[in-house]
Amino acid sequence: MTHRIESHEPVPYAVLSASGIHAGYPGHPDVLDCVSVGVTRGRRLALLGANGSGKTTLLRCLSGAHRPTRGEILVDGVAVRHRAKDLNAHRQRVQLVLQDPDDQLFSAQVREDVSFGPMNLGLPEPEVRARVEQALELLGITALADRGIHQLSYGQRKRVAIAGAVAMRPDVLLLDEPTAGLDPRGIGAMMAALDALEAQGTTVVMSTHDVDLAWSWADEVAVVADRFVRQDVLVKVMTDEGLMRSAHLALPWPVQLLRRLGREIDVTFPPRTAADVAALLR
Ligand SMILES: Nc1ncnc2c1ncn2[C@@H]1O[C@H](COP(=O)(O)OP(=O)(O)OP(=O)(O)O)[C@@H](O)[C@H]1O
Ligand SMILES: [Mg+2]
Repeated sequence: MTHRIESHEPVPYAVLSASGIHAGYPGHPDVLDCVSVGVTRGRRLALLGANGSGKTTLLRCLSGAHRPTRGEILVDGVAVRHRAKDLNAHRQRVQLVLQDPDDQLFSAQVREDVSFGPMNLGLPEPEVRARVEQALELLGITALADRGIHQLSYGQRKRVAIAGAVAMRPDVLLLDEPTAGLDPRGIGAMMAALDALEAQGTTVVMSTHDVDLAWSWADEVAVVADRFVRQDVLVKVMTDEGLMRSAHLALPWPVQLLRRLGREIDVTFPPRTAADVAALLR
């Protein structure tokens, strides 16, 4: 069963979208083949897919870091042109945080690294300082501000990398596996930081292998598999056993449990947590 979306039309009402993009690399040209994805303002989008399916490639295309060979990336319906000036403007609105913080962080000290982006924008110093302090606070790392990056744990470095993107005050934050490698407390802190960011008006997109996390967090899901992407509201995608299996993904635990019990899942108010499931079964 294939789930190909062949539309070349921009996704309606999307603040950021990919429209019919083809993308790949020399010697590996067809990682994504006619893929369309839309990021709606204020709606959480999770990208799911197996290792090597193309999640990072798709995020890099959306961020402007990787140029599709065909199709377009659009912001508020306007196609992004891959020229230095336009890409700079694009990156002010759309920030990508890489999977590995060590690919992102290059300053010696935390505050210095988080300041780098806003300083490059040529903002006045008090504005840079205010943005940096706010980003550190949002990520819960104010106490680390004067520490050397090399002294930090992996989870702390991940939060510093996100703080650097947050300090740019983007409309859309693209996070490539923000919770990978974090312990449960680290994941909780990361998700709380994302809630705080959203409360400030940033739209968050994240790639993850964690289907249960996606189920508990996302409004919409885009599954990357076999060079294609299928995007829809959470319940439609994550209860589609054929689609999930074709992407080598398991069904989230509440879906598995309720299926076994022969229970329907409410599309509008899906049971996201153990408490939700318990309430349903009571
Ligand atoms: N710089 C590159 N040059 C050549 N091929 C690449 C490059 N980067 C990625 N690829 C290939 O593109 C495909 C998609 O890779 P991508 O990193 O987008 O997958 P992913 O879904 O993010 O995987 P993961 O879950 O492991 O992070 C893979 O087959 C990979 O080998
Ligand atoms: Mg990846």
